Amino acid sequence: AGQKIIALQRVDSTNNYLKNLLSKSKPLTEGTVIMAEEQFDGRGQFNNKWLSEPGKNLTFSLLLYPSFISPNSQFLLNIAVSIAINDVLTGIIGQECKIKWPNDIIFGNNKLGGVLIENILSGKQWKYAVIGIGINVNQTSFSESIKNVTSLKKITGASYPLNNLLAELCAAIETRYRELRDNQCAQHYGRYVSNLYRLNEPHKFITGESEVIGKITGVDQGGRLLVKVGDDIHSYGLKEISYVQEP
Ligand code: BTN
Repeated sequence: AGQKIIALQRVDSTNNYLKNLLSKSKPLTEGTVIMAEEQFDGRGQFNNKWLSEPGKNLTFSLLLYPSFISPNSQFLLNIAVSIAINDVLTGIIGQECKIKWPNDIIFGNNKLGGVLIENILSGKQWKYAVIGIGINVNQTSFSESIKNVTSLKKITGASYPLNNLLAELCAAIETRYRELRDNQCAQHYGRYVSNLYRLNEPHKFITGESEVIGKITGVDQGGRLLVKVGDDIHSYGLKEISYVQEP
């Protein structure tokens, strides 16, 4: 992946840009990457904004055609991408990063990167998947309103050339993606679960109207989060649970 890189100075969102190209039936090869120095409408999950100081960080989108994945197993793609990014960042820092379900990359209790995967299907047929990735790299000051955020530079003190990091991330994602395609992904699930942020630690969550104390034990086939509360295991979908923020 990443052989074909379209580098933009300024764009609303690299995910939008890639989806626009595809909706105009522009033929794009798998592995095409759109990267931007600046996004003025960067998007995160749950309609959140993704803010990133121009030129300092990685904001890019990768195009995949994962037609070999059954639509019911879309979470496998999330797993492959998350473990790839997590491994690269862990390697750079030299200490473990964690995956906050479903796909935030966390160091300590702070967010280092985020992933917005947009799977576009028509009926049961895949059209494409846009993997949008934002990694905080060389930015060291963040707006007061953003809590629990960090960057590679804040962690290690070093600056990182963005193009090298982009290449490294794309290569790691490609490896995991090929393993998935070639049915060599038996270890993906275990790697994902064992790297989950707060795995098996009692933690306070908000579910619907109530707060519960529970321990994350894993995810199910559909990617729902499994949380042990008392003696019961509950499963939660994306909008059904949130973590009570660390102090
Ligand atoms: C999240 O943490 O909620 C996901 C953040 C994803 C941000 C990336 S930056 C590149 C791509 N383009 C976007 O508009 N969003 C993703």
